[in-house]
Amino acid sequence: MDDAQRALLRDHADRLAAIGIGALIGSDPSRAADFALRVGPLYANFARQRYDREALAALFHIADIHDVRGALRAQFDGAHVNSTEARPALHSALRSDLSGTGVARDARALALRAGVEMRRLVEALQASEVTDVISVGIGGSDLGPRLAVDALTAASVEAGTSRVRVHFLSNVDGQAAQKVLTGLDPVHTAVVLISKSFSTQETLLNGDILRAWLGDDSRLYAVTAKPERAAATFSIPPERTLPMWDWVGGRYSLWSAVGLPIALAIGMDGFEQLLAGAAEMDAHVLQAPPRQNVALWHALTAIWNRNALDLRSHAVLPYDERLKLLPSYLQQLVMESLGKSVRHDGSAISATVPVWWGGAGTDSQHSFFQALHQGTEVASADLIGVVASQSPYADNHRALLANLLAQSEALALGQASDDPHRSYPGNRPNTLILLDTLAPHSLGMLLALYEHSVYLQAVLWDINAFDQFGVELGKQVASRLLPALVAGEAADAEVSDPVTRSLLAELRQPAR
Ligand code: F6P
Repeated sequence: MDDAQRALLRDHADRLAAIGIGALIGSDPSRAADFALRVGPLYANFARQRYDREALAALFHIADIHDVRGALRAQFDGAHVNSTEARPALHSALRSDLSGTGVARDARALALRAGVEMRRLVEALQASEVTDVISVGIGGSDLGPRLAVDALTAASVEAGTSRVRVHFLSNVDGQAAQKVLTGLDPVHTAVVLISKSFSTQETLLNGDILRAWLGDDSRLYAVTAKPERAAATFSIPPERTLPMWDWVGGRYSLWSAVGLPIALAIGMDGFEQLLAGAAEMDAHVLQAPPRQNVALWHALTAIWNRNALDLRSHAVLPYDERLKLLPSYLQQLVMESLGKSVRHDGSAISATVPVWWGGAGTDSQHSFFQALHQGTEVASADLIGVVASQSPYADNHRALLANLLAQSEALALGQASDDPHRSYPGNRPNTLILLDTLAPHSLGMLLALYEHSVYLQAVLWDINAFDQFGVELGKQVASRLLPALVAGEAADAEVSDPVTRSLLAELRQPAR
């Protein structure tokens, strides 16, 4: 977006500044229905945002100017949308057949072949003596599978499609490894090392611990784009290695063999339903006209809240215990993708991604909601609920839904009072997303919706959603500092920063 487009959005925001969400709703009787969309089992309602039809028209016009439909087509067709690394981002080819280009077709063929391999491996493990699998990975090689396993396992256990318990290990803190191993029997445990690069420090160190604990390399598996490294460092042979490719970004990779822990937890058929859900969202996003396109609405809403209203934080509030990991999954997806301050051409851009954070309702109502309702920093929010009760406790489910509806309303409308301490300003914009049930298919749709929204925001900001150079510097400094921790003072000459030197001295103090 250029300065003129931002200025236009701010003009609309100024025009609406004195009009609260309640008044916007009151003055437009069909808004509640017209600002809502349904795609299969997913419903989204944008009526509690702080825009009116005129401002929305401006947003959709900006989307047209940026040819968002062409940009989506380019991503699905394998154009080099990751400009800094000259690569496509073809996660859509992991689940959809929506492109006829050579590169996308080749990617699709590789994905389908990997799916066959994955099924073979899942079924072999399910039929073996293995009762537990530890998935070792971090970031995109952990968060998606961890979320999906947490969200979907209970139903699979009930349906009898899950026999293997799946555990996750990501943090380099040795206490995490200690904790995950407690109660597990190496003889009945398999370990999957998931790393696109197979050079991630955390994963390799944890892999070493788990390999030694297993004492038997035959139950060591890998998912990686660098099979030669898995073979060289952990002696994992090709038949126990599943592929990844450089055309899939880590945070977009749960649809690939990186989803192996999901398939182990819920069965390969369940994993394929997850892919089918994402594919349904892909088809919708690619084919729906802009005004009916839920990902475009979501992306334009994010742009409006950030660039017109200047909101700096966005809360993800799942009202379902099974989605409690959604905020941390989305933190990586959104903030690693959009945490950029330069455009594709290197020129500076201000006000891109806000801070994404959140937590599950109703627990978070008793922690940070106070600040959401009455704090000085207004945050936008996505509230996400599941319509069908999938626990045997119907009363609790009704209470959960009542809280979901109540919070969305209270945040938007507030409540005046003569007592300033008891006054609720409201006007906290929020989107309500409902899934009919929480199942692999609907979860796939929800996650794909966020992926597409992220890409569309990047298109509108003209930034690259698919690189993450920001995470490299810390890794480099850590590897420079490691010798000082291993060799002690002898290696301090290598440490140039005086503050780090004095911190190292502090670390070496005997325990007090
Ligand atoms: O945090 C940086 C990052 O490169 C993520 O983008 C990625 O998902 C994660 O590290 C793990 O990388 P790998 O799969 O190569 O181990």
